[in-house]
Amino acid sequence: MDEKIGRRNFFGTLINWIFGLTVVSWIVPIVAYLFPKSKGEAENIFMDPSGNPIRTSAVLGEGSKTGLAFGDATIAINYKGELRAFSAVCTHLGCIVSWKKEEGIFFCPCHAGKFDPNGNVISGPPPKPLPQYRVKVEEDKIKLSKV
Ligand code: FES
Repeated sequence: MDEKIGRRNFFGTLINWIFGLTVVSWIVPIVAYLFPKSKGEAENIFMDPSGNPIRTSAVLGEGSKTGLAFGDATIAINYKGELRAFSAVCTHLGCIVSWKKEEGIFFCPCHAGKFDPNGNVISGPPPKPLPQYRVKVEEDKIKLSKV
């Protein structure tokens, strides 16, 4: 008799745990959906492929630098003395754009897509502008956040 009660308690507890975990596994994604993290809060340091920060002085001196931020190719430019940063991934098929300082445009070599210094499409097949990042400089490091 005591053994039956023990088994009932065991299975009752097990079922409660399974039910509880199931409910939690449903609630967590719903809460994450309802209260998304603000895109503007996350900051990334603009890095070279080796993981070293790319210095402000390097971008300002050379006119542009391609590196990494948010796990993707990113380009920072010196546009008339202002530091700007964009995703370097072309919005057409994902090739990496480069900055043509003389022309003042971003150029995609794959299908000749062109973007102005604000990342807007000038010509070619890209359907959307290059996503721009907010730039903050601290101790010669470039910190980027999503706009
Ligand atoms: S991938 Fe850039 S224009 Fe096609």
